[in-house]
Amino acid sequence: MLDSYGRSIDYLRVSLTDRCNLRCIYCMPEEGISKRNHQDVLRFEEILKIVKGSASLGIKKIRYTGGEPLILKGIDELIYNTSQISTIEDISLTTNGILLYDMVPELKKAGLKRVNISLDTLNSEKYSYITRGGDLSKVIGAIDKCMALGIGPVKINVVLMKDFNDKEVGDFINLTKSMPISIRFIELMPIGEGEKLYKESALSTDTILEDYPNLIPISNRSDSTARLFKLKDGKGTVGLINPVSCKFCNRCNKIRLTPMGTIKPCLHSENEINIKEYIYNEELLIAALKKAITNKPLEHHLDKEKSSRSKKMMYQIGG
Ligand code: 5AD
Ligand code: SF4
Repeated sequence: MLDSYGRSIDYLRVSLTDRCNLRCIYCMPEEGISKRNHQDVLRFEEILKIVKGSASLGIKKIRYTGGEPLILKGIDELIYNTSQISTIEDISLTTNGILLYDMVPELKKAGLKRVNISLDTLNSEKYSYITRGGDLSKVIGAIDKCMALGIGPVKINVVLMKDFNDKEVGDFINLTKSMPISIRFIELMPIGEGEKLYKESALSTDTILEDYPNLIPISNRSDSTARLFKLKDGKGTVGLINPVSCKFCNRCNKIRLTPMGTIKPCLHSENEINIKEYIYNEELLIAALKKAITNKPLEHHLDKEKSSRSKKMMYQIGG
């Protein structure tokens, strides 16, 4: 379905939970996150109804994210049920990879095609620092297993931060020489906890192009948010995602569902449409989804305002 600016909206990103087994410093506060009551968050059967309703309006791609989606029991069944919707062409998952290793076979069997893994450093002490306690070896093991079992291409999301991982950019890029993975450098966004770090740590991904002139541009799908590059004879790719410095709102093809049952037509807008109350009435649900797509704002204002207008945090919306 087209939004009011003529963009074709075919992608629904679903945050399944705002809980996480890590506490990345740019995403979640260390303490003080209270657990929500079960009745306040959508159940998988409700999510499936929303996914089906969205599919009838032309949504073809689904990404399950969080928080950390793999902490939820039954996610393989949700993925399987999603894969049975005939018009859904692509199902992917964003995860921090900590619980992934053991789950790869069941996720593949359920129909998961692709996975994005958040990994900001290749140094285990630094990993433990940025995630407040995560074990890097678990994530590395999971990446290898995904590749061995054919879930791919594996995409690695690296949030670029000054004086944290900017000296590791070359190491990440070098992984694409021999591995068929996609390393994607993402600019830190001034949203939630990220806002506190933004001033001292934000770095434009353009600095990577200046430092690594050996990156060769390659063409990409027109709706992609990443500018893609590769090394000569490299097996993988390098993507640069600049939500702030070079925004891609004119190509944005997605809407988002939060665990609380609201649709966010734009990540950085305060605008949310509550659809929870319509889940059991198909007609009203479709009407509310249509309204959400029609009301998708033209663009965000991060470049001018240096702060997201979103009232929700990244762990409540999903990356
Ligand atoms: N800026 C950029 N990316 C963020 N993520 C979380 N918070 C931010 C932020 N402030 C990313 C994570 C992960 C995905 C879930 O969202 O690194 O890749
Ligand atoms: Fe959890 Fe991902 Fe946020 Fe890190 S970035 S705290 S892994 S939701």
